[in-house]
Amino acid sequence: MYKHIIRPILFKFNPESVHGFTFGVLRFFQKIRIFNPLIRALYQKQDKKFEREVFGIKFPNPIGLAAGLDKDAEAIDILGFMGFGFIEVGTVTPVAQPGNPKPRLFRLIRNQGLINRMGFNNNGVEQMVKKIKQKYSKVIIGGNIGKNKVTPNELAVNDYLKDLNALHDYVDYIAINISSPNTPNLRELQNKEPLTKLLTALTEENKKYDVQKPILLKIAPDLTDGQLDDIVDIVRATGISGIIATNTTIERGGIDYSEEEIKAFGNGGMSGKPVKKRSTEVIRYLSKKTNGEIPIIGVGGIFDADDVREKLEAGASLVEIFTSFIYNGPACVKRILKKL
Ligand SMILES: Cc1cc2nc3c(=O)[nH]c(=O)nc-3n(C[C@H](O)[C@H](O)[C@H](O)COP(=O)(O)O)c2cc1C
Repeated sequence: MYKHIIRPILFKFNPESVHGFTFGVLRFFQKIRIFNPLIRALYQKQDKKFEREVFGIKFPNPIGLAAGLDKDAEAIDILGFMGFGFIEVGTVTPVAQPGNPKPRLFRLIRNQGLINRMGFNNNGVEQMVKKIKQKYSKVIIGGNIGKNKVTPNELAVNDYLKDLNALHDYVDYIAINISSPNTPNLRELQNKEPLTKLLTALTEENKKYDVQKPILLKIAPDLTDGQLDDIVDIVRATGISGIIATNTTIERGGIDYSEEEIKAFGNGGMSGKPVKKRSTEVIRYLSKKTNGEIPIIGVGGIFDADDVREKLEAGASLVEIFTSFIYNGPACVKRILKKL
């Protein structure tokens, strides 16, 4: 029904307006709780065989929602009822910010991909905490954190510490996003020195709490093997719990669009099927390098059960999806789990 009736209608409108509209609908159904059993019956697939424990958390199934769809934690309960094993909210920054000028989200329909340059549009971490406090289901929440655009990289640590402290008591794990291509120079934080400084500060802060939260690092697919080696060294040295691989790519290879069309889209990160292969390569490389000792959440171009298997075989312990939720609709998790 989604693919043949709803999607063709939604895809007639601009992607960000559709996102706003859809979130309005989701928030409505989340509020009216009598709909919850119906949504769960339609979309949730619970089975002991899907459960897995990773970095000390028991996940009901390995398929999570990737960061960026629910940036402000507005629809966490209903997204959980749609079958996701966990929801990663954010990226959130200490202070609310509007993100980049519109248009900033484009569909690559021929290749089932997206290009976005949202730029961390969000309502700020305090507002996110308010929303998470209203959660009434048991869905597992990851808090994906970033820095404000106006904060220079030299002061980025302060922003990440503010986010971590605000969210610590309300999320199950923390994801450090230093890999978005849409905040100027953010990806430079992936370099050895600033990354060591950042992760050391965050792990030390985490130790101040009685109950520590797993900290994960979300990385770009565009890193060289040398940079990936550095990341493995830093992850080991700082003792963080895992890696999320990968974010969107700045490459534009392998898509059926002309140079002019690609130019017209402009800057941004590409997601969906076009990033699948590279994301799997990064996961495989990291898994080999770490002898499978560091948990990896695999993300990038997962559309069906075979894609999930590919990521798990490459070394991922869990996976996340984003773009296929847009193309395949709310039944996508159930459909994948059925075939897993
Ligand atoms: C519109 C859009 C916004 C995104 N925003 C974020 C974000 O705020 N933080 C983040 O870590 N990743 C963000 N991502 C990246 C996704 O979480 C994911 O890593 C990437 O899209 C690859 O997965 P996919 O191919 O399943 O979409 C965004 C992706 C899209 C398409």
